[in-house]
Amino acid sequence: MNASPKEVMLSAVTPSGLLTLGNYLGALKNWAHLQNDYDCLFFAVDLHAITTKQDPKELRDRTYRALANYIAAGVDPDHCTLFIQSHVPEHAELAWILNCHTYMGELSRMTQYKDKSTKEGQSIPVGLFDYPVLMASDILLYQTNLVPVGEDQKQHLELTRDLAIRMNHHFDEDLFQVPEVFIPPVGARIMSLQDPLAKMSKSDSDPHGSVYLSDSDDQIRKKIKRAVTDSGSEIIDDEQNKPGVHNLLTIQAAITGKKISEIVTSYAGKQYGHLKVETAELVVQALKPIREKSEEMLKDKTTLDTLLKKGAESASKRAAKTLKKVQDRMGLVLKKS
Ligand code: TYM
Repeated sequence: MNASPKEVMLSAVTPSGLLTLGNYLGALKNWAHLQNDYDCLFFAVDLHAITTKQDPKELRDRTYRALANYIAAGVDPDHCTLFIQSHVPEHAELAWILNCHTYMGELSRMTQYKDKSTKEGQSIPVGLFDYPVLMASDILLYQTNLVPVGEDQKQHLELTRDLAIRMNHHFDEDLFQVPEVFIPPVGARIMSLQDPLAKMSKSDSDPHGSVYLSDSDDQIRKKIKRAVTDSGSEIIDDEQNKPGVHNLLTIQAAITGKKISEIVTSYAGKQYGHLKVETAELVVQALKPIREKSEEMLKDKTTLDTLLKKGAESASKRAAKTLKKVQDRMGLVLKKS
């Protein structure tokens, strides 16, 4: 008897900057943790990256680096499909079709669009506005059941679900799987070390606000030592009044799996300095093997290229199946094979 097929899990990172501790704790760590229970696809979304200005050489390097980071963080390349978004042209094709069923008002409401477009001045690229539709295409192409992401992607996932439901309503219920979102209970929103009210981001202009997966042990220690904490000296968990302390406690909890209350108890009578030193050591220990393995893999791009070619071929076959089904249901004449 055949075992029932595993459900599909899919996620991605935009290689618009170096991956951060936030990307690791909010996303990559959970991908590795959940991967055995799912049929997994993980990719680097270079077509999303070009919605803002990119240096071509840096974009290419970061795309490889992101994929090396996935594997170094525990994603198993023998069991997951790993690829680069632009190697599978069906992503852009389905996005066009979804565009024709997405409303301007829906996209105007996206908070990431509102934030990012203010930085673009008068000349806002259409791609930036349309970004969530391409993301919906990424997900719906593979009939995805589960999408593990950090808190900031929740609104994009809601739009994806709305689009799937809308299209299913127009073109029959089994057109798209309506995906569920997985947001980790701890670590879904790691904040900047310099401004604990803002998200840690790979595109932050202040490099001291983010710990990058490529940072050396010393850089990590220095950044966490300089982290903005709050007035007072008592280590308690109070997100509103002590957001800097809350962020460090959250980082510890996400790395160790311990409850924040348990961590707070262990700091009774201690100072912020203790919290910083110990958080830094935990981060160093978590990221060192990822940095070292990533650097090792990046020395040999041919192995990565072989893996990515295989991944793109397998992804493309699956994507083409969904795209054909959509084109057929909509009344587009299919090319005879
Ligand atoms: P991106 O590249 O901004 O982030 C990648 C993943 O990391 C999470 N994340 C965080 N988690 C916790 N704390 C933070 N400070 C933090 N910063 C980022 C994000 O929530 C995300 O899970 N649009 C997506 C990429 C994408 C995608 C997809 C994701 C394109 N297509 C399809 C899932 C499925 C993005 O730009 O993520």
